[in-house]
Amino acid sequence: MDKVQDTIDILKMYNQEHIIKLIEKLDEDKKQALVEQISKIDFHQLKELYDNTKKEIEIKENKIEPLPYLDKKKLSEEQKEEFQRLGEAVLEKGEYAVVTMAGGQGTRLGHSGPKGTFKLDVYGKGKYLFEILAENLKEANQKYGKVIPWYIMTSKENNDETVEFMEKHNYFGYDKDSVRFFAQSELPLVDINGKLLVGKDMKIKEASDGNGGTYSSLRASGCLAEMKEKGIKWVFIGGVDNALLKMADTILLGMAIDKKVQIASKSIVKANPHERVGVFAKMNGHPKVIEYSEMPEKMAEEVDNDGELKYGEAHIMCNLYTIEAIEKISKETLIYHSAFKKNSYISEDGKEVIPQEENSYKFESFIFDAFELFDDIAILRGKREDDFAPVKNREGVDSPKTAKELYEKFWNRN
Ligand code: UTP
Repeated sequence: MDKVQDTIDILKMYNQEHIIKLIEKLDEDKKQALVEQISKIDFHQLKELYDNTKKEIEIKENKIEPLPYLDKKKLSEEQKEEFQRLGEAVLEKGEYAVVTMAGGQGTRLGHSGPKGTFKLDVYGKGKYLFEILAENLKEANQKYGKVIPWYIMTSKENNDETVEFMEKHNYFGYDKDSVRFFAQSELPLVDINGKLLVGKDMKIKEASDGNGGTYSSLRASGCLAEMKEKGIKWVFIGGVDNALLKMADTILLGMAIDKKVQIASKSIVKANPHERVGVFAKMNGHPKVIEYSEMPEKMAEEVDNDGELKYGEAHIMCNLYTIEAIEKISKETLIYHSAFKKNSYISEDGKEVIPQEENSYKFESFIFDAFELFDDIAILRGKREDDFAPVKNREGVDSPKTAKELYEKFWNRN
């Protein structure tokens, strides 16, 4: 069988003729590598994902209800102490692990490296995002007398750079043997016409398939099995880009135990009805995060009898799971969403094009789409000034400038 010819046939079938022209121009080694890569692409799935970008997402209002939550600042002293006691016991027994999702591309920030290697200009000297996370975990380790196993999810694209960076910085004083990296899976990027993009390395451009890939990648990498072997009972999964993320919040953990749920999440109140964040709701009787782009305007503005937004609990990537929950989710296929992003590519005349505007779709599954596999979730409302300093955009809202201010304010208070 001629693999090159088979590949050409597939490319023709899926309207990817521009790649055929490229294959013909490549030397033998590069040609083989590209053909090998293309043979692993599921074109049927890719076409489906591209076709979905043309469809409107519909949220049927009548099936959506608000989701109850507990407000941390309104808990009674007894309740707080009880939650803390329950949570601390898990940490003291070494039954707790954390996962940092660091496989994103960070396109909005525009930093030339993995996002965790971005240095936030705090307190003169500055701190890397990975350093801030390491410090948060080290504090918990000291408090509870156990080293929390730290799993860092990278992408194929940024894995080596991430590992090198952590090595170079001596894991910011974290016990190296308790840190494990695992790379998530990828999907090809396509342009607005559904055409594959080619990168500088003369390969099809692929990118990590969204933070929802965390669950299946934990399983495929063997990390889940390792956690089970270590006797881990609770797993925290958080992002790499929140300078105020609390990865070992014993109140959140204790609340989850007390409420006998398999998943728990910390929220903060939306800054205003139109803030661009996903919010918690119940959809068809199951927990769900509704993205800002999918939320009808009227619903976003609805208030309850106390004047509070009915759908005001924002999801901040601060999620906790039992190990059984991770195991269950890791066997499921989550739906894919499309994100319209800027991605450079090689044009047909062999020149690199660096777009000024969004030019391509990245297909991503979201971590929170797993919530609907459960009947219940426990939500703890935290505080924006204590829990949320995201580093998303280069400037303006959720930028290094706002994160620096929030971080310094928090540490000056505490
Ligand atoms: P975002 O969705 O904000 O994406 O990720 P991003 O890659 O950081 O930034 P943009 O959208 O390209 O500007 C939220 C969290 O999920 C992780 C990110 O690293 C971040 O911690 N993530 C995202 C992954 O681990 N993998 C992915 O494929 C996407």
